[in-house]
Amino acid sequence: MYKGFEMSNADLRSGAAAENVGVSPDDFRAVCGLFPTGVTVVTRNLSDGRPYGMTVSSFTSVSLFPPMILVCIDRSAGFLEDLSTGLPFIVNVLSENQQNLAERFSSRREDDRFAGLDWLASWSNVPLLTGIAASFGCSLSRVVEGGDHLILLGSVQQVLRHGDRSLVWCESKYHCLPAVGTGEDDWRLFIIKNLVASSWSAFGDQ
Ligand SMILES: Cc1cc2nc3c(=O)[nH]c(=O)nc-3n(C[C@H](O)[C@H](O)[C@H](O)COP(=O)(O)O)c2cc1C
Repeated sequence: MYKGFEMSNADLRSGAAAENVGVSPDDFRAVCGLFPTGVTVVTRNLSDGRPYGMTVSSFTSVSLFPPMILVCIDRSAGFLEDLSTGLPFIVNVLSENQQNLAERFSSRREDDRFAGLDWLASWSNVPLLTGIAASFGCSLSRVVEGGDHLILLGSVQQVLRHGDRSLVWCESKYHCLPAVGTGEDDWRLFIIKNLVASSWSAFGDQ
């Protein structure tokens, strides 16, 4: 069982305000939002066996040897209940048509999130969502304090590529990537054509 994370978000926020770090939370959030990420739902079983999941965009690969990932979880999130080393969890990478799941797992009541949803008890009996782009089956290896969030390091035990393309989150909106090779990637041709045209005109000016 992890100890030492008793400080509440309210305590941390008042501490940060007292320090007056000079970066407002609104500015920080807005500027962070310029950096596009994928969208995941991180799932686990709670101690009473109920499935739990929450939407998480702060997912990053960390190490190749051994394979490790991290997610940053708000200290008040239900995911952190009864956290212990080795806890199995799955990072479900949402596919481009699963915006509804991102919304469901970030807004619905915790015990209503799996209601009527298609999912399987998968690796280590952890809930695996269907129709996703990819998944990482992990066991919790370490927890690091990170202000009002905790950084959970997961040792990757299983990776699956499910095939669908990933959903993107940027500037507080969901996006789909342009399809490559189907005509939607014409912007590449546009840039190349413009580069060629401008070098020809520069050549002509000489
Ligand atoms: C696109 C998106 C990304 C999110 N990413 C994170 C994240 O990385 N970490 C986090 O703690 N909460 C994140 N959230 C918020 C949680 O999903 C939300 O607060 C959720 O209700 C927490 O679960 P809980 O209500 O069971 O505590 C995100 C929400 C959205 C819509």
